[in-house]
Amino acid sequence: MATLVAMSQVRIRPGDPLSGTLRVPGASKNSGCKQLAAALLARGTTTVTNAPTVADLEVMLDVLTAIGVKVERINADTLSIDTTAHLNPEAPYELVSLMRASINVLGPLLARCGEARVAMPGGDNIGQRKLDMHFRGLEAMGATLQVSHGFIEASCKKLIGARITLDFPSVGATENLISAAVTADGVTVIENAAREPEIRDLAAFLNQMGARIEGAGTSTIEITGVDELSSVNTELCGDRIDAGTFLMACGVAGGDITLEGIRFDQLEMVIVKLRQMGMEITVTDSGLRAQADKRLKSVDVATLPFPGFATDFMPMTVALLSVADGTSIVSENIFDSRFSFIDELNRMGSDIRTEDRHAVVRGVERLSGAPVRAFDVRAGAALAIAGLRAEGETIVHDWHHVDRGYVDLPGRLASIGADVIRL
Ligand code: EPU
Repeated sequence: MATLVAMSQVRIRPGDPLSGTLRVPGASKNSGCKQLAAALLARGTTTVTNAPTVADLEVMLDVLTAIGVKVERINADTLSIDTTAHLNPEAPYELVSLMRASINVLGPLLARCGEARVAMPGGDNIGQRKLDMHFRGLEAMGATLQVSHGFIEASCKKLIGARITLDFPSVGATENLISAAVTADGVTVIENAAREPEIRDLAAFLNQMGARIEGAGTSTIEITGVDELSSVNTELCGDRIDAGTFLMACGVAGGDITLEGIRFDQLEMVIVKLRQMGMEITVTDSGLRAQADKRLKSVDVATLPFPGFATDFMPMTVALLSVADGTSIVSENIFDSRFSFIDELNRMGSDIRTEDRHAVVRGVERLSGAPVRAFDVRAGAALAIAGLRAEGETIVHDWHHVDRGYVDLPGRLASIGADVIRL
């Protein structure tokens, strides 16, 4: 699998309101990578459908290949991995440095091999992203961990069920600890667990493999260890962040679009806010319909763990509010430096001031197209959306960040009438 992604740019020009129907792709980045890591717990072949290629999924497949897994892409949406062979439980720096979710192999490798050596990911463009809760939870289950020469070195004889209370409902820590606990001796209880839909999906996948996990999707998850898991087939849910991005694009450009393959409950908080702003969003038989026929109104938004307003929607929401009528206050409560894209947005004529974790967004009628740079996946998507309501041309540089998590965002925006093209 290739991991090199060409540096690329995308040009956006303002155009007609958006119109048409789109299928929401499977959540390859935030669900697929996690389920693939968890598949290491069984020996056999796991087939994953609705798993389109995005760069982060390819990195996870490279990590698995490095560990000794046989990876095969069957078609554009389906892949299979064979975890039967003896595994070399080491995730190399070159891959972990490309994608933090590589850390999700730590729990499964420890559970299966009794040891793991995973390169320590650094901070990144949205904040510190510490791992202390992953470590404390695994230690409570009897593992020994140390960081040496840039690698997390973990070992255990046999993991033992434990009661773990997280300081904060971390998605990654909850996922790693669930995966470690499913074959541990006895019962593990995770309190203050993350409740994101991706956690429910991971637990459903593991239960299908034979695990006994109860309470996923709530703050208390109870896992009764089993002796063995078996490989199964899994289908990924529609990507809620992708769907939310298109709802916001519709809010910025105006229009009438239908998204298929997404459920209301995956996006409830975003829909509540978009409706407050003046968008009409209705539930259809197979997804959602969004209509925006006038300039939207300002609204205050604070990011919180699920079911609160997800931090991953925040950059696109700021883009939307930057052209809304009125002043909004946006507070980022999950990551400590996720506002760097705002300097880029201000280069496009938005009127936004940030103070620590808060942004005061004074809506302007129109933005002005400019060359800008994507610092991370959602920041790039936000700048592209802003370009839909900016006079002239917006060129988003470093688009490869966006390709980490989105399936051909430019092409799919263009398919509903936006003037967006990859240069
Ligand atoms: N944290 C700690 N200690 C830990 C773990 C986390 O202090 O041991 C802190 C982090 O520093 C951060 C907060 O807790 O401030 C939340 O981190 P969390 O562990 O929940 O995030 P994550 O698992 O690293 C996933 C998604 C992110 C998404 C967050 C929050 C994946 C691959 N990543 O990250 O997605 O923002 O959950 O929902 O699933 C994105 O898609 O753009 C993205 C960044």
